[in-house]
Amino acid sequence: MARIVAGVGCSHVPAIGVAMDTKITDQPYWQPVFKGFEFSRKWMAEEKPDVVFLVYNDHCTAFDASVIPTFALGCAATFTPADEGWGPRPVPVVHNHQKMASHIAQSLVLDEFDITIMNEMEVDHGLTVPLSVMYGDKTPEDDWGVKVIPLAVNVVQYPAPTGNRCYNLGKAIRKAVESYPEDLKVMIFGTGGMSHQLQYKRAGLINPEFDTMFLDKLTSDPVGLSKMPHVDYLREAGSEGVEMVMWHVMRGALDDEVVEVHRHYHVPASNTAVGHIILENKDYHDSRGKVAAE
Ligand code: DHB
Ligand code: FE
Repeated sequence: MARIVAGVGCSHVPAIGVAMDTKITDQPYWQPVFKGFEFSRKWMAEEKPDVVFLVYNDHCTAFDASVIPTFALGCAATFTPADEGWGPRPVPVVHNHQKMASHIAQSLVLDEFDITIMNEMEVDHGLTVPLSVMYGDKTPEDDWGVKVIPLAVNVVQYPAPTGNRCYNLGKAIRKAVESYPEDLKVMIFGTGGMSHQLQYKRAGLINPEFDTMFLDKLTSDPVGLSKMPHVDYLREAGSEGVEMVMWHVMRGALDDEVVEVHRHYHVPASNTAVGHIILENKDYHDSRGKVAAE
């Protein structure tokens, strides 16, 4: 059977993609941002998942106000990087594991999570930046080296789903993956955040205390954390901080007991606090005896 072994939480700041694409990652401003992903790239290279289930949000690229799916599962064969105004990012096309995506679509709907099925979709920085920070520099001629099943979550237009709903969706995704017969190693990414506000009077808001609490509770109290209401994200983490509900999908898909093997937190990157965490299922972690990339 397929199984989820680990989860990755990570921000998707568009300027991080620009810094990689324009090769300025060793400039003093960017150096500390990318230093925190050195471990992660080694870990990815050693762990080599077959499939990444990538929970992200679209920013009015594939969707606009005319159609607002709460949860949209990518079932197309490929997903092309979108033009967000400066031309598409020069990164590889994303290849789906289409059979597994179809299986997950069926399992989720029959499990009463009525996701939207996307048979055509372009992907923006919300999906490509997390892949770039975890897999490193790639050109459009390269391959990401992993199949990616995207799940787009609406966190742009109110009402976004609750953290609790996201957490429970994670559980249903895990059930779907574990009922797929092929032996595949799967990782799940929860992306977006951390605290940031891009608009109006509190533009520029960053809250490291809140972000640290959030990262801590992913291990110590994930269920309690998933019950946090939207208004707490808005007040404490800014209007765009609500992107963090997507991390609960990732957490819900993991075991109750996880081991935090890596954390990175840095302010600022563009207008945003960059947060990143790697959580391994405890049984998987113990079965390996050590952290592979150490
Ligand atoms: C920024 C952050 C985001 O999450 C985003 O989607 C767009 C911009 C920023 O920091 O500028
Ligand atoms: Fe965003």
